[in-house]
Amino acid sequence: VKTDLRAAVPLQEVVNPQKISTQETNLVLEFFTAEMMAAHDELVKRTRKLEEANHRLQELDQLKTRLVGDVAHELRAPLASILLKIDLVERDKPENQERHLNDVRRQVRRLGHMIENILDLTRIYMTNPIERFLDVDVNVLISTVVKAHHQEALAANLSLVWKPGSNLPPVYGELEQLERAFTNLTGNAIKYTLAGTVTVMTRWDGDRNRVVVEIADTGIGIAPEDVPRLFSRFHRGRLAEAANITGTGLGLAIVKEIIEIHNGTIEVESEAGVGTRFRVLLPPRL
Ligand SMILES: Nc1ncnc2c1ncn2[C@@H]1O[C@H](COP(=O)(O)OP(=O)(O)OP(=O)(O)O)[C@@H](O)[C@H]1O
Ligand SMILES: [Mg+2]
Repeated sequence: VKTDLRAAVPLQEVVNPQKISTQETNLVLEFFTAEMMAAHDELVKRTRKLEEANHRLQELDQLKTRLVGDVAHELRAPLASILLKIDLVERDKPENQERHLNDVRRQVRRLGHMIENILDLTRIYMTNPIERFLDVDVNVLISTVVKAHHQEALAANLSLVWKPGSNLPPVYGELEQLERAFTNLTGNAIKYTLAGTVTVMTRWDGDRNRVVVEIADTGIGIAPEDVPRLFSRFHRGRLAEAANITGTGLGLAIVKEIIEIHNGTIEVESEAGVGTRFRVLLPPRL
């Protein structure tokens, strides 16, 4: 027999035979609404985080693709030149062999140096260094870097002067990476200076609220047209090429990445034939 039960029994009693009051219903509803709102907020937060992570991954992916392209392009020239030299070793007179072999050796070393630099760069791109940030005493850091270049400066017949500033607040950063950045800058100053002095100094700039590290040299300088591309990967300056000073053009790209990760900025002033001054500004640890 088909009977419509709903018609016979009041709806409320089907749902809950113990009849709940309107007040109670409202309380229950309020409770569930609050729960749902909290869940919704949490969901929005998580979605945003996922979107951010996704965006970062996409950026990294593009960066990697570009890096691989750049690297492949940059490897072509030295590889072609090595092949050419090997052909010459076979064909040229025996007395020229040593010269060709030395050229090959130099090119292979350059490739090795390039690979080291590329690894440095990818390490910086791929890791999240903020996880390893610590208070860093800039004078301790820079004095280590300067000491490590003592021999190199001596061999190049340059004076290397270290002027630590006083009352510097600590900065917040990753020691190893900061060391790498200042090593690249000091190494460049020595490499691109044929005679004179490389001066490294630190100071506190109260107006700009920054710890300042300056690396100044009396070297070959940088042509104005090179300045805009100085921090791009693989860019080499005209004067450096003209002076036949070798390099891969990756050092400053590495420096820029590291300084940016530390919320710092880098400035350069240079005059051809007079010298160059790089200035790094880092925010103090709050
Ligand atoms: N102190 C400096 N004096 C003159 N030129 C400089 C100086 N530092 C950098 N440069 C110029 O900037 C270019 C890029 O420097 P970067 O350190 O990135 O590469 P590199 O020195 O050529 O090679 P790498 O550092 O990878 O061995 C150099 O090729 C050079 O032209
Ligand atoms: Mg360099």
